[in-house]
Amino acid sequence: MLRTMLKFAGLLDMRVKMSTSNYVVLNTGQKMPLIGLGTWKSAPGEVKEAVQNALETGYRHIDCAAVYNNEAEIGETLKETVGTDKIVRREELFVTSKLWNTKHHPEDVEPSCRKSLEDLKLTYLDLYLIHWPYAFQQGDVPFPKNPDGTVQYDYTDYKETWKAMEGLVEKGLVKAIGLSNFNSRQIDDVIAKATIKPAVLQVECHPYFAQNELIAHCQKRGLVVTAYSPLGSSDRMWKAPDEPILLEDTNIKTLADKYGKSPAQVMLRWQVQRGVVAIPKSVNPARMAQNLQVFDFTLTEDEMKTIGTLNRNWRYIVPKIVVDNKSVARDALHPHYPFNDPY
Ligand code: A2P
Repeated sequence: MLRTMLKFAGLLDMRVKMSTSNYVVLNTGQKMPLIGLGTWKSAPGEVKEAVQNALETGYRHIDCAAVYNNEAEIGETLKETVGTDKIVRREELFVTSKLWNTKHHPEDVEPSCRKSLEDLKLTYLDLYLIHWPYAFQQGDVPFPKNPDGTVQYDYTDYKETWKAMEGLVEKGLVKAIGLSNFNSRQIDDVIAKATIKPAVLQVECHPYFAQNELIAHCQKRGLVVTAYSPLGSSDRMWKAPDEPILLEDTNIKTLADKYGKSPAQVMLRWQVQRGVVAIPKSVNPARMAQNLQVFDFTLTEDEMKTIGTLNRNWRYIVPKIVVDNKSVARDALHPHYPFNDPY
């Protein structure tokens, strides 16, 4: 319906052009839209409509993962909306998915990728990431537990997993491969052994966790950085009582008022203006549209620097458990845990 109305008003082509001209180019030559729709925490029952709405609004980049447990529902939308004579042609759309921690054994990589493709109703992915550098016990239980409630780990070397990821490119199942939640040392470890270099690193990144060193590290090595939780993920199930609320930052609010934009738009603009891809999650049509409208204003150099000074190295996304009434990082003792290194 919306498509028909837009076509009638001659707006459809304009919107598509707007959304596709705002991209970065990966080391594979692919164009990756700087704003994508995040789908983590988008519940089954609401994500189908959210993705449909996003595509109608002009999004051309959808970020998914097997562990979000909603790829089959996203696939229902993609089946209806992607293809010749539909809202978007496949080649105009950038879809990412991620290999879960229980699937790091090389023989599990291709079946996992094929399962995501089957669920998403696609014949290839634009980008496939190793979700975390550390692995869980092999199998179909996403969070396998020991009798005492601790996670059952696995110690497969992520470089072995990477070799299997390369096989996916060779088979044409994915166009690019990359990493998520890896630190700088682990990235270099993969690059040293890689035949196909990682194209993207996806990590938590926002004004309170600016990731300047890691971004510089990646950009020097030709990796594009994608910021997850770019708005601070205020809809997380777990929250520290003392955590700062990013969307209420007064410095950001001042800039938002100056430009007649929302705080979310200022934070997203800051990312895309420094070449970082951002994947804000929303299931709300108005906020979703707002998050895409960040290409019609420019922050001054000083304003970019001001936002840079807000960094507190504050990580919102650390898998936690409670031990002796204290909340501690769940996986910190795993040898491949990424967040013990400085960056
Ligand atoms: P909703 O889905 O109801 O829009 P993040 O991308 O950092 O994970 O943040 C997602 C959270 O931010 C969700 O609670 C989402 O709610 C909310 N959100 C998304 N876009 C905006 C926006 N433009 N302004 C305020 N909150 C937003």
